[in-house]
Amino acid sequence: MRYEKNIDLTSLNTMNIRSIAEHYCQVCDVNQLVEVIKFSRKNHLDLHVLGGGSNVILPPTIDGFVVHIAIPGCEMVTVTDSMADFVVGAGENWHEFVQFTLNQGYSGLENLSLIPGTVGAAPVQNIGAYGVEIKDLLTEVSVIDVTSDDLTPFILKNNQLEFEYRNSLFKKNARRYIITSVKVRLNKHSPLKTGYGDIAGRLGESEMTALSVSHAVIEARKSKLPDVSETPNAGSFFKNPIVNREKLLALQAEFPNVISYKVDEDTYKLAAGWLIQEAGWKGYRDERVGVHDKQALVLVNHNQGRSEDILGLAEQVKVSILDKYGVALEVEPVVL
Ligand code: EPU
Repeated sequence: MRYEKNIDLTSLNTMNIRSIAEHYCQVCDVNQLVEVIKFSRKNHLDLHVLGGGSNVILPPTIDGFVVHIAIPGCEMVTVTDSMADFVVGAGENWHEFVQFTLNQGYSGLENLSLIPGTVGAAPVQNIGAYGVEIKDLLTEVSVIDVTSDDLTPFILKNNQLEFEYRNSLFKKNARRYIITSVKVRLNKHSPLKTGYGDIAGRLGESEMTALSVSHAVIEARKSKLPDVSETPNAGSFFKNPIVNREKLLALQAEFPNVISYKVDEDTYKLAAGWLIQEAGWKGYRDERVGVHDKQALVLVNHNQGRSEDILGLAEQVKVSILDKYGVALEVEPVVL
């Protein structure tokens, strides 16, 4: 294991933000991770965890120690004829893991195809798409508590993880736990979720399988979301805001086309992409950064933008949405 100094993280975050880590190391197993935690403690260095870098906004310099989690491994344990548990290293690529489960004949994760990032990052923001969230299939995670004297990994069960829409125990207690592996339980015959218009429309008449749903999801994402290798981005930059019924009715009176989804009797989710689009931001760009022209919820880094450029644009969008609709947008990626 090599500890390095002053490492440029530009190629390690999908926003392609230039950011220099004072200390950096990639870890491939739990022992190496424990060693890094002890080293940073001994030297009074703040510890920052980097996974796939697809949901972070990095500052120009990072004081302390950036540990890049590259723990590999995928173990499949059959539970019954039709059910299996998959225990996956935090450093595995999420999409490749999803494809592996589908190729083994298990369904459940097809709607979460092509989400960038690592397996270990997935529970942090409770990744979700097309009506499925990782919380629906994850049974437990193995973690190290960085604040504890005992650095032995231990298990946290799904019901301890405080999952909510794009939120979890890990987001609420930033920098306390490091996820080392994730366990999901999948079934060969779980019902496919194809209700989402964008997916249903792409499935056509052919036989519906988890693999065909996965293909439809991949096509849907490719048609709207910019490819990070061409247009650096961090996926949705804002959460879809939650409002009560009274607020929704007031908005509908003024903006009859506002897009909303019922969560429960008095709770509705608004499509932030629509709000931003209707406020005129879609396709906006300045010298460095902009708003994606096919999905207004995504901010993109066109030309060597730094965190201040991205966050400056995000602030302008937030102010304009608050002004126009009286709705407060919340930034979704982790801002270091
Ligand atoms: N819309 C617009 N204009 C836009 C963007 C969206 O009118 O510029 C409308 C769409 O036409 C649609 C509605 O808003 O009627 C919702 O749009 P979309 O289906 O694209 O989904 P979203 O709510 O914008 C969420 C997730 C995505 C996930 C999709 C699909 C969040 C913050 N984002 O986006 O997740 O892929 O649903 O389920 O919840 C991510 O988190 O990085 C991400 C991409």
